[in-house]
Amino acid sequence: MSIVNVSTEGGNYPIHIAPNLLKQVGTSIPPDTTSIVLISNPTVFGLYGNTVVKSLEASGKQIHTFEVPDGESYKTLETLNSIYTWLLEHRLDRRAVIVALGGGVIGDMCGFAAATYMRGIRFIQVPTTLLAQVDSSVGGKTAVNHPMGKNMIGAFYQPIAVDIDTNVLATLPEREIAAGLAEVIKYGLILDADFFAWCEENVAKLRALDGEAISYAIQRSCELKAYVVSQDEKETGLRAILNLGHTFAHAIEAGLGFGTWLHGEAVGCGLVQAAELSARVCGFPAADVERVRALVAAIGCPVTAPDLGSNKWVELMQIDKKAEGGKIKFVVMPQIGQAHSQTVPHEDLLLVLKKTTGIE
Ligand code: NAD
Ligand code: GLY
Repeated sequence: MSIVNVSTEGGNYPIHIAPNLLKQVGTSIPPDTTSIVLISNPTVFGLYGNTVVKSLEASGKQIHTFEVPDGESYKTLETLNSIYTWLLEHRLDRRAVIVALGGGVIGDMCGFAAATYMRGIRFIQVPTTLLAQVDSSVGGKTAVNHPMGKNMIGAFYQPIAVDIDTNVLATLPEREIAAGLAEVIKYGLILDADFFAWCEENVAKLRALDGEAISYAIQRSCELKAYVVSQDEKETGLRAILNLGHTFAHAIEAGLGFGTWLHGEAVGCGLVQAAELSARVCGFPAADVERVRALVAAIGCPVTAPDLGSNKWVELMQIDKKAEGGKIKFVVMPQIGQAHSQTVPHEDLLLVLKKTTGIE
């Protein structure tokens, strides 16, 4: 098993990474726990619920299960309220532990339920998508959506452990693997040029979920994310670099309608757009733009952005949470392995939009 430690003001915790780890989730339960609630959705519970319940039984605690409907459209205050109601009806106290079994939707929503139920109870992330294993389960961003915006209601609240079973990726649809790999290569681009080159060399193994390759990619991604959130838990500075490509991605998701492209697919395309923008504003080499485009294509994500019209593109990017006083900030790279955020000249942005939407 690999262990990556996360250390923040909001808490220190281990990320355990291993095949078959679902069978050991019970060992992450603290001794003073009164009861455990395993929260999942029917898709994931149907595949892995019984294995996790069995493993939790080893802790000797009372175990409950609760399912919420599957999908981003249920990451709402209504579903959250159904969790609170269930917790209250079953009289869970402040020493109860929530175990979140699923992708980023389950993890984000259970995290926010844990952050707010009785002013905060402990929770464990058991992420089952690649995107959740390398990104959303680590670092304590929890949230639900509001009709006026994605992830607009939430809190920074750290789990007490993240248990990653690499075997569960075998049942993920191929598009979800590609979407998770976009976040993996993002870490190389912002912080680790050697890791980016390793991803280039191992892309076929990664897509095929080769055990050794995918475990290393998850471990390295978690190490890099742990480094960033331990420096800047609440995104007052450095953490913003984790959003490389995301300003473009959010505009794609909102412009096409959420769910048309997966979030990670939009991030993949956004990485290409961020590379093009970096070439215009901070000297990112043209040859490296092509390396980014080739790797994003090789993981199976789109590399041509949808033509939303430049006015719509800019309008959508201004709604981004990172915009300050209407000014859009972009994460850009002077070279592979280095990133910072800055405002950019409007003409450069328009040229990049023109080039990356294929309407030159
Ligand atoms: P998701 O949670 O919707 O999961 C995708 C689909 O895969 C779902 O239908 C799910 O039931 C299914 N699934 C999950 N595990 C499976 C498995 N092992 N086998 C088969 N099917 C499986 O999507 P996601 O991409 O994991 O997460 C997206 C969410 O994460 C968004 O709401 C986004 O806002 C959030 N997010 C949060 C952060 C953060 O830092 N907190 C970062 C990135 C994304
Ligand atoms: N997914 C970006 C972050 O956790 O900050």
